[in-house]
Amino acid sequence: MPAVTVTTLQELKQKGEKIAMLTAYDATFAHAACQAGVEVLLVGDSLGMVVQGQDSTLPVSIDEMAYHTACVKRGNQGALIVTDLSFMSYATLEQTLANSARVMQAGAHMVKLEGGVTLADAVQRLAENGVPVCMHMGLTPQSVNLFGGYKVQGRGEAQARQLRADAIALEQAGAAMLLLECVPSELAAEITQAVKIPVIGIGAGSATDGQVLVLHDMLGLSLTGRAPKFVKNFMDGQTSIQAALAAYVKAVKEVSFPAAEHGFSA
Ligand code: KIV
Repeated sequence: MPAVTVTTLQELKQKGEKIAMLTAYDATFAHAACQAGVEVLLVGDSLGMVVQGQDSTLPVSIDEMAYHTACVKRGNQGALIVTDLSFMSYATLEQTLANSARVMQAGAHMVKLEGGVTLADAVQRLAENGVPVCMHMGLTPQSVNLFGGYKVQGRGEAQARQLRADAIALEQAGAAMLLLECVPSELAAEITQAVKIPVIGIGAGSATDGQVLVLHDMLGLSLTGRAPKFVKNFMDGQTSIQAALAAYVKAVKEVSFPAAEHGFSA
């Protein structure tokens, strides 16, 4: 399979073929995910929770993001690698540029930032400097303290209007991809229609251009014993991790995942 690029993702959106994205934090799982047909590997700052055992993503440093990106790069077999900029590592434009350079030089092909239109200038400067940007919107876990918990976002007309406007403004600023987390399925469908760039969902219904899950969640592994509503355990009925990864990709492509029960209403 030729290497996945931003152009590949655009073409998949245009063709209406769903994009399978999954988190990876090390070389072996990156390799296994590629073998299963995952097109986008996300070196997510969720590593703070599932690898480090922290209670949020906030303690993760940009050094740790660069370290795990380098690990994933070594196991990658042609997927597009997206790396999160960690909490407060993009508070100023200078930090944004320097820390994006850091993770791109470690092996990322795209950086992911959490937020809305207030980051439009940063997105534009990154794009001008050759850095594709994925904007993570809706439930942005780095803002958990501001939200007062991990809550569905975009409910109610005012919030929905703001999310739609932010998505369009970020596309205009040069964002290469959007990721919507925990937003009502109907709103996610509208945003996906409204922009030309690929939109990936997690807890955002089945109408987005692709899906992402946290690796440990979809393998049924949890430190707390609880899984979010949008998670499906793909180990159910499988005899190996490799088979579970393949089942995830198949379900995303066939749009049998997510089911209505994994989404949220307005
Ligand atoms: O860090 C992460 O794994 C993420 C996903 C929840 C999308 O941002």
